[in-house]
Amino acid sequence: DDTSRQAPPPGVVSGLFTEDWRVHGSIYSSPEIFRLEQERIFRRCWLYVGHESELPEPGDYKTTFAGTQPVIVTRGSDDGVIRVLLNRCRHRGASVCHDEAGTANFFRCPYHGWTYYNSGGLRGVPYDDAYTRLDRDRLGLTALPRTETYAGFIFTIFAEEGPSLVEYLGNAAPYLDLAAQAGPEGIQLSANSHKIGYDGNWKLQLENTQDGYHFAFVHRSYLAVLSDRAGTPPPVVPNLMANWRTADLGGGHSLGEDTTAAEVTARGLIGGLPFNVVVFPSLAIIGAQVRHVLPKAVDRTEVRLYPMMLKGADNAVNAAILRNHEEFNGPAGAGTTDDMEIAFFRTADGKAATEKDWVVMSRGLDTEKPGENGIVYGHALDELPHRAFYRQWRRLMEEEES
Ligand code: FES
Ligand code: FE
Repeated sequence: DDTSRQAPPPGVVSGLFTEDWRVHGSIYSSPEIFRLEQERIFRRCWLYVGHESELPEPGDYKTTFAGTQPVIVTRGSDDGVIRVLLNRCRHRGASVCHDEAGTANFFRCPYHGWTYYNSGGLRGVPYDDAYTRLDRDRLGLTALPRTETYAGFIFTIFAEEGPSLVEYLGNAAPYLDLAAQAGPEGIQLSANSHKIGYDGNWKLQLENTQDGYHFAFVHRSYLAVLSDRAGTPPPVVPNLMANWRTADLGGGHSLGEDTTAAEVTARGLIGGLPFNVVVFPSLAIIGAQVRHVLPKAVDRTEVRLYPMMLKGADNAVNAAILRNHEEFNGPAGAGTTDDMEIAFFRTADGKAATEKDWVVMSRGLDTEKPGENGIVYGHALDELPHRAFYRQWRRLMEEEES
């Protein structure tokens, strides 16, 4: 009986999925699987690290993570080129930049004072008279081999070879274009981020982002507030989302979209874009927000939420977007707190029981509808986005074992 199987043997990823889309719980709990994910997914996929608006001028930088790897995203003082550098001193490994964002021509390591240009090169070593064999040219901060932007979104990759960013984005690219065009002069992440952390696996956040199924349950009190305000009876959620559908865009990317939405406009964005898109493995654009998921450990995740500010829009419009963001996502908000409680904490509680350690992701499996360009469509509440994600996850994780 495969339903009673516990963790798979170390290094073996096959056997985690059944044909009827039961998925083995060890994908959320096995340290070995987490380690393999870093190797097989985060070192081989294009990873979102930021938006051009976060570093508009030469010398600007931000710190973040590419998978678990601490990085500095910089715009070179001399050449304006965006680079992604590992935030690790080449001397004895301290992180050289602690601030989340700023402007600096150099980064000086706080441990012994080695100093680097913001393009990575080693500029100076204090008290260097006792070094006879220090090859300074080879001791710059490590730059990731490829960094590209698409529609202002900055991605980086550890692999030297392989698809370009636009090839990698595939069917998800048009949605980044749409998001980028939301404001009269584009978008900017100038409001910075707020962060949430939870004791649970990183994939839970990506699943929940495209999970129409939970809305009626987890967000019942939020819906009650809305209907109370409007003086209308609480909506029935399947009707609320009747115009929405989900899609497997291929490559692990997924979509939820309002099929009746007019164009994305500044006014429309106050209430959110008429679509949510997940770019495999760790970026989501949802509502009026860029959501960056940072895996920390198999059972620890940080999520950075960036409200999308509209460039060239009235302050009142951007203020409304921020208030909306706070109302749903803020620490005292009505939405994200409930997602944390139920989708993360309660699933961690439940999954502590490992006797039948499988989850079921089959809603809408038999009603998936093939469309153009290899896109597959489903109902708004289907677990199609989840399957989209894990089809790619599985491909990458199993490839090296075949
Ligand atoms: Fe950075 Fe020593 S660890 S200077
Ligand atoms: Fe939710």
